[in-house]
Amino acid sequence: MELTVAVTGASGTIYAHRTLLHLAASGAVERINLITSSTALVVARVEMGAKLAEGDARTVNEWLGLPADSKLVRWHRLDNLAAPPASGSHPQAGMIVVPCSMGTLGAVASGAGTNLIHRAADVTLKEGRRLVLVVRETPYNAVHLENMLRLDRAGARILPASPGFYHRPRTIEQLVDHLVFRALDQFGVPHPTGTQWKGEEP
Ligand SMILES: Cc1cc2nc3c(=O)[nH]c(=O)nc-3n(C[C@H](O)[C@H](O)[C@H](O)COP(=O)(O)O)c2cc1C
Repeated sequence: MELTVAVTGASGTIYAHRTLLHLAASGAVERINLITSSTALVVARVEMGAKLAEGDARTVNEWLGLPADSKLVRWHRLDNLAAPPASGSHPQAGMIVVPCSMGTLGAVASGAGTNLIHRAADVTLKEGRRLVLVVRETPYNAVHLENMLRLDRAGARILPASPGFYHRPRTIEQLVDHLVFRALDQFGVPHPTGTQWKGEEP
């Protein structure tokens, strides 16, 4: 399976980090097309101290604990509208935007995108492939909510960065993973169990 993962400048770089880690560990994904917005790299530095240089595979491999020469992640430049995810004829399962800022949400909802993240999301929708948007802002204004509704109607899955607590997380990673696993479920990507609700007798 090939997937595109886009990281934008909303708070919650850890969601992107855990998503990429679990995709890499799943064994189900042969290629991850990574796209990052410029603000995503700023937030990654602020929130996680991540030293990521756009397009430099070694920096992302180091961040993910992958071998320096790993080809799993192919990092495309934001301004490269000729990259594979920009074309519907390039076969892939779909795309996750994690975290998804209100700016990127609005650009995709308007259909008037200007960068590779917007274009790849637009292509994913037009090809009828799965598009998961892990949106993050609080509170939402009416524009945000209308954009979410519009994209849901166009076939996207809106997956707000609001993890559950019923698996009794003890670490931030366990809390974050609850949300990340819901995103991976959208693509049938296997992940460690432990956060799935098994039912409760009254
Ligand atoms: C530290 C930091 C945290 C931010 N958190 C959010 C957020 O949670 N949600 C959001 O929509 N924008 C957030 N922003 C603002 C976006 O980064 C900004 O609107 C940016 O233009 C979005 O562009 P992008 O989608 O191309 O990354 C944050 C910015 C910074 C610097």
